[in-house]
Amino acid sequence: MSELTASLIVELQSIDTPTLCNALEVLVPQRHGYGYTTEPLFCARPELKPIVGIARTATIRSGRGVGGQLLEHVAGAGPVRTAVLVGDDSSLEWAQRRGYDRHGQVNQRREAILAASTAEYQHRALAAATNVGTYVERWAPTSPDKREELRQLYERTKLGLPNDTPPGATLAEVDYLFPPVAEVLLARDGEVPVGIASIAPSVPGSWYNWYVGVVPEARRHGVARALKVAGFAVASEAGAVRLVTHNHAANDAMIALNESLGYRHVPQGDLQYLRPVAFAEA
Ligand SMILES: CC(C)(COP(=O)(O)OP(=O)(O)OC[C@H]1O[C@@H](n2cnc3c(N)ncnc32)[C@H](O)[C@@H]1OP(=O)(O)O)[C@@H](O)C(=O)NCCC(=O)NCCS
Repeated sequence: MSELTASLIVELQSIDTPTLCNALEVLVPQRHGYGYTTEPLFCARPELKPIVGIARTATIRSGRGVGGQLLEHVAGAGPVRTAVLVGDDSSLEWAQRRGYDRHGQVNQRREAILAASTAEYQHRALAAATNVGTYVERWAPTSPDKREELRQLYERTKLGLPNDTPPGATLAEVDYLFPPVAEVLLARDGEVPVGIASIAPSVPGSWYNWYVGVVPEARRHGVARALKVAGFAVASEAGAVRLVTHNHAANDAMIALNESLGYRHVPQGDLQYLRPVAFAEA
């Protein structure tokens, strides 16, 4: 891979993103189906100057020192003006000694132990859905049309979600929250979709609850509870003994629901959003 020199950055700043994407589709044709598009893109706002940045990403599976490893990895990219997540207090202290501090959102980790039998969870799931006149079914939104349908439903259900993502919903956001390994649960009122959930296998014995959302007009009728309990049944059926999730600390509704279902807060697994102090003050 070429070194990203100052002159290369200047050169890249002279080319807009659609042009680069079009070139990649020609130069690396095996990306077809994985790239931005199979049709040429054009720049909708040519008056806006292209921006060049460096993103370093990592997935770390480890019990301790997660923040330290991630910061070392990110710092290797050069001057850092980015946000990182850490997962425990020792990592936060490590990061603070290196000029980072908490910035904004904290996602609280919660865990529920699946102690009942699968049959019991299936029974509870059916009862929870029936109680509120909702039908919860597994859904496999894999085709482009279905992904778009999912994106539109997600966009409607995320209204009021207290996180830092902009309004609207991109397919990238959808791909993140509804990865291919996820079981997608759809709640319907008759034929009308009213809620959506995503749960997926995580480390052995654990499943992760990625997302639950309900369209505003169907809220406070127990739809999210029905989706959550259906998720317990699916995870239990797959052999999980634990369900894990993260809740934005300001999401009172979701936290209340989770705690009523037996999720317990595990502070040492909270995700903290950090920024370099120098950048925050700039
Ligand atoms: C959070 C959300 C999923 C709840 O959906 P819902 O279908 O209205 O929830 P339910 O009717 O099943 O409520 C179950 C419990 O959650 C809690 N709850 C739900 N909405 C609440 C609110 N606005 N304020 C306080 N508690 C609330 C209550 O404890 C409620 O039980 P109760 O009605 O017996 O008091 C919904 O508000 C939503 O989609 N928000 C935007 C997306 C989001 O934040 N998703 C979570 C991120 S993963």
